[in-house]
Order: sequence, then structure tokens, then C-alpha cells
Amino acid sequence: MASRKLLLLPGDGIGPEAMAEVRKLIAVMNAEMNAGFETDEGLVGGCAYDTHGAAISDADMEKAMAADAVLFGAVGGPKWDAVPYDVRPEAGLLRLRKDMELFANLRPAICYPALAASSSLKPEVVEGLDILILRELTGGVYFGEPKEIIDLGNGQKRGIDTQVYDTFEIERIAGVAFELARTRGNKVCSMEKRNVMKSGVLWNEVVTATHKAKYQDVELTHMLADAGGMQLVRWPKQFDVIVTDNLFGDMLSDVAAMLTGSLGMLPSASLGAPDPKTGKRKALYEPVHGSAPDIAGQGIANPIAMIASFAMCLRYSFNMVAEADRLEAAVSAVLDDGLRTRDIMSDGMTEVGTVAMGDAIVAKFRAA
Ligand code: IPM
Ligand code: MG
Repeated sequence: MASRKLLLLPGDGIGPEAMAEVRKLIAVMNAEMNAGFETDEGLVGGCAYDTHGAAISDADMEKAMAADAVLFGAVGGPKWDAVPYDVRPEAGLLRLRKDMELFANLRPAICYPALAASSSLKPEVVEGLDILILRELTGGVYFGEPKEIIDLGNGQKRGIDTQVYDTFEIERIAGVAFELARTRGNKVCSMEKRNVMKSGVLWNEVVTATHKAKYQDVELTHMLADAGGMQLVRWPKQFDVIVTDNLFGDMLSDVAAMLTGSLGMLPSASLGAPDPKTGKRKALYEPVHGSAPDIAGQGIANPIAMIASFAMCLRYSFNMVAEADRLEAAVSAVLDDGLRTRDIMSDGMTEVGTVAMGDAIVAKFRAA
């Protein structure tokens, strides 16, 4: 069977601990299910800076471009707070997103029934929640030029970031939103700030036109992004797919993540456009949580977001839908059994570390 090339970039902080649990799954799938995964490894973030003086080396970038999928852990930590801006750990992630043209970032916020009580919102508000934030990932204020601090010469400086979107960028992310909605609840809510931003006016126009041209069967609504944030914590179940720009998507996805009880639970997929010849998309999968340097190396990190990111990889890069379903069910099952890492611990549950949580999920996955 065809081999499946994975590049693992564990990164910094809890990234390597979480990635170790995914490695176990890969080994089991190769040994027992003939999955044919070929893995390679690289450095990204602070560890890459320590070794290469860059947040990701050109050689590792090439590996990422050649892989069928990249699994990414986390980057950053206080150790690298003072490194130059261009080589800060986050620059490695941003380069991967930009060079691989991963414009579509899928951030599902699913509330596992077992965790409804861990949310800061009332259980009835979040129970059964299943929404998808689709964040534009290669444009907007993250990458717009000019992006600089200039000296005004009068003792003042000026910091400049540029929010910019072209029609094609909005069209392609809107297309992904409507396509995804068709596989789910068939609803898209587009969020921008057209009341103050020209890019928001264009965003709104292009999403509306894309809907009219090709996707009238999907229900489309629009919300100002600030009101959207408010609605997300008021009654999140009103949403199915939310499509929004890079910066609003960054913020709204953190809000949505916390609805589900813990940032340690949420996976993400970043996808490029399908290659016209092979139909394959470049793809990177990463947990939404960061490197959590405060708990790194203690064996207490929650590996579920990383494992669920691997499940998204099975689904979106390799069309291994049955295996993805099984892995997601295995995660749900260990939570139903009462196993909890510290971040999601509650009364009457059994606290376990990273390795025990990973082992329990692997065991359920094999048994299913
Ligand atoms: C995220 C993170 C990144 C972002 C950082 C680490 C650059 O917050 O993926 O949400 O802002 O996009
Ligand atoms: Mg973020």
C-alpha cells in the first residue's frame, strides 16, 4: 500500500510530551493495521532557535513541504522571551502556515458530555456543543505590509500593522466554510467588523456573493465580530460553522475553546488548497493549546488535543474516516470512564498523567 508521510514537529514545552502519545498510536496503527505511516522529525520554535538560530530551518521547511501531513506540538516559552522578533518561536509556526499556504484553519469546539461540568458556563449552555470555527490563516493583519515600528524623530514611535484582504482570499475561505457546513448543520455565520473596517465591508460582500453564486442551499448569516464573541458565550449552540478572518479567528477560537471546559481538549487542522494534479492538500495539525511552559516536563499535560489533532489528520489528510471516528470514540470513552488529567480534574474522577491518559486511549482504540 502507498506510504503515508508524516513530519512530526513536537516543538517546545509540553509539545514533546503530547507528541509522544501520538507516536504510540502511529506505532500501533503500523503494527496492527498496516497503516504504512512513515515518520520523520524536525525542530520548530525555541528548540530550533537553540540548534539552528532560526525558528525553523530551511531543511525542516523542505521536509514539511514534502510531507503528506505535518503534526505540530507547540512552540515558545520564557527561555526565548528575549530572542530577536524575527526568530521568536512563533515565527516558525507562522512560516509553516505561510509557506505551505495553509489558508483554512478548522477549529472545532466540541463539548464532550463528560466535561460539561468543567466549563465556566452552565452545563445546559455547553452540553452537546459542536461548532466549528473556520479561521482564515494566511492573510489579514498577521501578514499584511507594512508591518513595522518607525521612529517619528520627535521622541515618538509608530507601530503599524496592516489588515488587508483580497477578493480571492475571502472567496476561498468562504467556499471551505460552505462546503464544511454541508457536511454538518448546513449553517454558516460570517463575522467581521464592517462597521469600522474596509476589509470587513469587502469580506461581507464577497461572502454574500460566494453564497449567492454557489451555496444558496446553506443558511448564511452575518454578525459583527464583537457581537459574535458575546453570542458565543451567551448561547453557543446557535452556531454551526463560523467563518472569520485571521485575528478575529484567533480570539474567537480561544473563547470557543474555553466553552468546552479546557484548552487542553481542542485540536485543529490547517489546510491548503487541493493540488490540481493530485487532489492532495498540504496540511498541518496542531492542538489549540500552547506550550504551557509552567507544567512542561512534569508528565501532567493533557495529550487529548494532540491526539484529537491526529484524528483530524486521519480524517482530512488520509481519508481514514473509520479510524478517525474510532480514535475520537476512544477519547470519549476514557473520559466516560472517569480518567482526567489535572486541567480537567473534578470531584470523584481519577487523576492520571500524560502517559497513563495516552495509554488508556490507545487501549480503547485497539479494543474497539
Ligand atoms: C494560535 C496561536 C498563534 C496565533 C500564535 C502562537 C502565533 O495563538 O494558533 O491561535 O496567534 O495564531
Ligand atoms: Mg491563538
